Amino acid sequence: MPSWVITGVSRGLGWEFMRQISNDPNNLVIGIVRNKEETEKRVAAEFPSRSNIHLLQGDLVDYASLKAAAEDTAKITGGTLDYLVANAGLVSHWDHMQTIEEVANQPEKMEEVLLEDIKINVIGNIHLLNLFTPLIKQGQAKKVIVLSTGHADLDMISQRNLDIAPLYTISKGAQNIAVSKFSALYAKDGILYLSLSPGAVDTGHLDLNHFNEKEQQRAKDLFQKFVEYAPHFKGPVSPESAVKDCLSVIEKASVNEGYGGAFISHLGTKQWL
Ligand SMILES: NC(=O)c1ccc[n+]([C@@H]2O[C@H](COP(=O)([O-])OP(=O)(O)OC[C@H]3O[C@@H](n4cnc5c(N)ncnc54)[C@H](OP(=O)(O)O)[C@@H]3O)[C@@H](O)[C@H]2O)c1
Repeated sequence: MPSWVITGVSRGLGWEFMRQISNDPNNLVIGIVRNKEETEKRVAAEFPSRSNIHLLQGDLVDYASLKAAAEDTAKITGGTLDYLVANAGLVSHWDHMQTIEEVANQPEKMEEVLLEDIKINVIGNIHLLNLFTPLIKQGQAKKVIVLSTGHADLDMISQRNLDIAPLYTISKGAQNIAVSKFSALYAKDGILYLSLSPGAVDTGHLDLNHFNEKEQQRAKDLFQKFVEYAPHFKGPVSPESAVKDCLSVIEKASVNEGYGGAFISHLGTKQWL
């Protein structure tokens, strides 16, 4: 029975990963969430007959909670794990539609938000990968997938002049390097560590209704840049479609196929949209 740990299953892409993977009763899914009771209620309401879902409490900024989640996972699986999907992350809204100059001109707030992004997306995920790697070593599939964003790709930023969301994307760039460092250490053990961008997905972050006038214009400019990059782009896709694409990349990618430490998209390439 393939076992999966997915972080951030309360909503968005994490919920959809859990939904699609647990749809196959042969898969065992362990979801890690900050608010376990809330997600338990939603699972009970939407999947009343799925006995292959377990929920554990864990917060990326609370090392002890992640350690306990790894220990509880070992109890459920018998000490092994096939797949870890490090999906949870902070998509910081404050800098989402601001340039690096604008955020740097608000120095205290900039430091506060960047440190929070780094604490969750970089440090939290380093703890997560470190604590779960011993279980992955004992698993069959040996795959660790970390959700990143094509917006952190250096060529994409420079060639398309993507001048907004600096703090969030800085943290994702650093996160990509952490993933590659795990790969450099453990590729010899056949463990895949992969940074995977899901594309632009409709989980609410790019909802124009949440933006003021200036932010709406920035979002429209961003979409225009996306269309110039990928003429087929019609707006963020559904979580269902993005997760389907991601799962097909996860199935295909392995250390032997040359994906160790790579940073790729839901299309399995450096095409981000
Ligand atoms: N949506 C996109 O277009 C897009 C594009 C590129 C990359 N991504 C990446 O894909 C992943 C999922 O994105 P999403 O759009 O589904 O995000 P989302 O809707 O904002 O969901 C984020 C998830 O992470 C959890 N989380 C946040 N901080 C946490 C912490 N400190 N400890 C544990 N869990 C925490 C949240 O839990 P709570 O419910 O408790 O807050 C939630 O389950 C993220 O890593 C994001 O950077 C998304």
